[in-house]
Amino acid sequence: MNLCSLDDWSNEEILALLERAEAPPATDHLAGRIVCTAFFEPSTRTRLSFEAAAHRAGAKVIGFSDAAATSASKGETLEDSIRVLAGYADAIVLRHPQEGAAARAAMASTVPIINAGDGAGQHPTQTLVDLFTIKQECGGIAGITVAVIGDLLYGRTVHSLVPMVQRLGGRVVAVPAKGLGLPAGFDNVETTTLDEAAAMADVLYVTRVQRERFANQGDYEAASGQLIVDADLLSRTQSKAIVLHPLPRLDEVATDVDALPAAKYFDQARNGVPVRMAVLATLLENAK
Ligand code: NCD
Repeated sequence: MNLCSLDDWSNEEILALLERAEAPPATDHLAGRIVCTAFFEPSTRTRLSFEAAAHRAGAKVIGFSDAAATSASKGETLEDSIRVLAGYADAIVLRHPQEGAAARAAMASTVPIINAGDGAGQHPTQTLVDLFTIKQECGGIAGITVAVIGDLLYGRTVHSLVPMVQRLGGRVVAVPAKGLGLPAGFDNVETTTLDEAAAMADVLYVTRVQRERFANQGDYEAASGQLIVDADLLSRTQSKAIVLHPLPRLDEVATDVDALPAAKYFDQARNGVPVRMAVLATLLENAK
């Protein structure tokens, strides 16, 4: 069993995992297991919350967070690196700049692969954290409206979240930054303005313009700095929404939102630990 994309998991499996995250397992649940965090691309919260989750469940952690320090810099293929790491660890948490890298790794691996972000592709564990937080704050997913705001073209957290909200009976509306609308395959999502979204949505899911995915710095600058969620927007539109953000944020959520009850992005980040404990427990229990 791998976690490359939530497309491979049923609604029942996903809801069971979220339920499991409500009551984290005992501190020795994963004693004797080794989790490898293989991060070929920068990360703070995803890697450290996975490591905290592994430690809290009693597993040991090996790994790297700087691909320049690994044999990838000598030209080793991803598949070979994974075959080697699978001989050292019981599960591999992989972040990689190429879309599809997790699925490739899963083909080469004899241990579970957990996709911690593959280029502009998917970020399924972030989506589990997002769903967990929405359930906690809004009571459930069915019947709620989530507005996804910002870089919807390159933002992998959005690519994983949108189909899950829809599968679980919620509605999604899009507020894309200029030129950064949802890619092909998301044609069933309607577009709206930031003001309309703030007035009608239950969740404002704000994302950063993904600078590292732009070939041209000028295009990045043209797309950034336009959609800002601030205290004025929320009061002007009498918004009842909670504000989520996978973080790191730049200027797209103003710091004057931080003190408002709507601001839930740091709670969301904290939820990364119990949710990833449930992910590790589920995958390692099912591993041979
Ligand atoms: C996101 C990512 O890496 O895709 N960060 C995260 O995992 N919380 C979002 C981002 O980098 O903008």
